[in-house]
Amino acid sequence: MGEVDPAFIQDPEHRPKLSATEVEGIPLIDLSLINSPHSVTDPRAFEGLVAEIGNACKDWGFFQVINHGVLLEKRQRIEAAARKFFALPLEEKRKIRRDEGNVLGYYDTEHTKNVRDWKEVFDFTVEEPTLVPASPDPEDTEETEWYNQWPEYPPELRPNSLTRNACEEYAREVENLALKLMGLIALGLGLPKDRFNSYFKNQTSFLRLNHYPPCPSPQLALGVGRHKDGGALTVLAQDDVGGLEVKRKTDGVWIRVKPTPNAFIINVGDVIQVWSNERYESVEHRAMVNSEKERFSIPYFLNPAHYTQVKPLEELINEQNPAKYKPYCWGKFITHRKLSNFKKLNTENIQI
Ligand code: SIN
Ligand code: FE2
Repeated sequence: MGEVDPAFIQDPEHRPKLSATEVEGIPLIDLSLINSPHSVTDPRAFEGLVAEIGNACKDWGFFQVINHGVLLEKRQRIEAAARKFFALPLEEKRKIRRDEGNVLGYYDTEHTKNVRDWKEVFDFTVEEPTLVPASPDPEDTEETEWYNQWPEYPPELRPNSLTRNACEEYAREVENLALKLMGLIALGLGLPKDRFNSYFKNQTSFLRLNHYPPCPSPQLALGVGRHKDGGALTVLAQDDVGGLEVKRKTDGVWIRVKPTPNAFIINVGDVIQVWSNERYESVEHRAMVNSEKERFSIPYFLNPAHYTQVKPLEELINEQNPAKYKPYCWGKFITHRKLSNFKKLNTENIQI
């Protein structure tokens, strides 16, 4: 990427403070209770876990989980494959580049709030819808293609008829974790555990491999500028370099999330904010870069099915607490957001 091009430079008020002390502010939650099938679960402890997750969603919109049940070996396999893929020459990576015809693949020109991000990315999905109309409305002709483009190298990223590739295997594991967490979140909102399940049939969830190369001016640029996640829930694996910052709700201060080995960082996205009628809010976050070390992270975005009409849940609204959002079609929203990247629009300005 060379020297810092002006396209990467953040306005002064949005530049990171490199000297800030690391604060492990977001809650750390132990999920061993739901991941030990042979032990009898103590109902009081289970209620405690549900409350812990509910409070973390309300107070922070973010938390880390340990003893989450995702096999370390699967995570290490995809992390190693990501390193090999990003080490390829740019021409190789660009052979599978995302474009206007397909929202999935490689790209290195993402902009967040009109400033270029210091990163390169590879997106793929697990459930593979191909040509997807943005909404079930026949008047609406906008459609988008979602198909995976796998690189020639490394072999772990290629589809294989005998075993699942590293991406597919890992995706199944984190999807499982994300759905379990949605069950606990439902309980915390006073809803049945399976309340969200139907929205995730034919889901449009996807995985992203992020690579943040060393940056000569980390005080001016960001790996990902401040933003909120548009989907339901994000499950992020970050490496031991660190760089994720979360905007603390109480005072707007940016808090650095110190890497915890083998933990996942979970955050609430805009869809949960709407479903919960703002009981839980989607919180701004950003990723810093540094001048010496490259950094890798792998977010999994749990998203509803294309035709889902996202709106506050009936059970959570009443006369005193009326719906704060109008229904919107998830597929239309995500299509617009993804395609707008090509037109270099400020995607974060597309409000629900
Ligand atoms: C993101 O929020 O898009 C990525 C965050 C990270 O890499 O830590
Ligand atoms: Fe994000």
